Amino acid sequence: MIPIVKPYIPPRNQLMPALQKTIYSGYIAQGKKVEDFEKMLGQYFENNKVLTVNSGTSALHLSLILANVGPGDEVISTALTAEPTNTAISQTGAKVVWADIERSTGLICPKSAEKLINNKTKAIMIVHYAGMVANLNKFYSIRKKYNIPIIEDCAHAFGAEYKNKKLGYCSDFAIYSFQAIKHLTTIDGGLLILKKSSDYDRAKKLRWFGLDKTKPRLKNNITECGFKYHMNDVNATFGLIQLNYLKENVNKYIENGLFFDRELKDVDGIQIIKYHDDTKPSYWLYTAMVDRKDDFIEHMNSNGIQCSSLHLRNDRHSIFEDGSHLKGLESFYGNYVHWGCGWWITEKNRNKIVELIKKGW
Ligand SMILES: Cc1ncc(COP(=O)(O)O)c(C=O)c1O
Repeated sequence: MIPIVKPYIPPRNQLMPALQKTIYSGYIAQGKKVEDFEKMLGQYFENNKVLTVNSGTSALHLSLILANVGPGDEVISTALTAEPTNTAISQTGAKVVWADIERSTGLICPKSAEKLINNKTKAIMIVHYAGMVANLNKFYSIRKKYNIPIIEDCAHAFGAEYKNKKLGYCSDFAIYSFQAIKHLTTIDGGLLILKKSSDYDRAKKLRWFGLDKTKPRLKNNITECGFKYHMNDVNATFGLIQLNYLKENVNKYIENGLFFDRELKDVDGIQIIKYHDDTKPSYWLYTAMVDRKDDFIEHMNSNGIQCSSLHLRNDRHSIFEDGSHLKGLESFYGNYVHWGCGWWITEKNRNKIVELIKKGW
């Protein structure tokens, strides 16, 4: 079976000596390797205000705290995402308010989000679902009009672009996940990208109990309670080795995605996604809308291609409000599927996928 997702593990002869060196150096906590990893990521994102953490969820939680989100507040979000996008909001005590999604992309709809803004709204959470990029032109003008911070959940979208630059350079807060199956993995880990120096300084303390790492422990004074969210040198070493393969891997996702877009655009029963202006997706999963979704999934799975939806719409969890009134969500959720698009999809695999779809289901 050709899987939808797969962790990339670098060659043993590159990874193991590096890991052994770090582990037996005697320093395995947050140290030089984390610093080096952040430096490399800062170059990649052309921003030196980047902070690694131990998960994308921690990065989301920190962004919300930096946006001063707390009990009694509202955060506008999407139900079509992995649960941590929204459990992180609940963790602050704020209420998750569902914006609808666009029925043509599955991405959070700016028009619907704008209608929900009121004086309790403290942030808008945008998810670049499956590596597609939300309508940032519209969301940035909403941000300007209402002065409400935007948090970009880029967990699925490493390598994706807005106006020819990597995602995360425009918003107040952007997060990435380095969990096992993402474009770049540190086994578990995450990244927080910040715009303001004051947020960067605050987040640096918040990820480590509220302590200031530049001062001796015995001379520290915690002024805001923080968390144990930092990355350690072992995960950072894994990440540093991954970076050697990153460009090649991300390019494979994108090349495969563009291939499917090209080959499937005129095929009956399937509708490819029309990506937003000024955006370039990084195709973490290939996403399309199909007629008779269940039959399509059966056709693909029985021919060795894993194919399905990946996340339960989050409004189906009892802790969140029901979103049955959301027409875009109802429509997209009933039609969309994913299949694998990453570095493990060879030319032979992708030809087989296209042939299968063209045969009909
Ligand atoms: C859209 C999205 N946001 C956030 C996260 C959280 O990332 P992590 O698993 O690194 O905590 C994930 C998950 O894996 C995700 O898919």
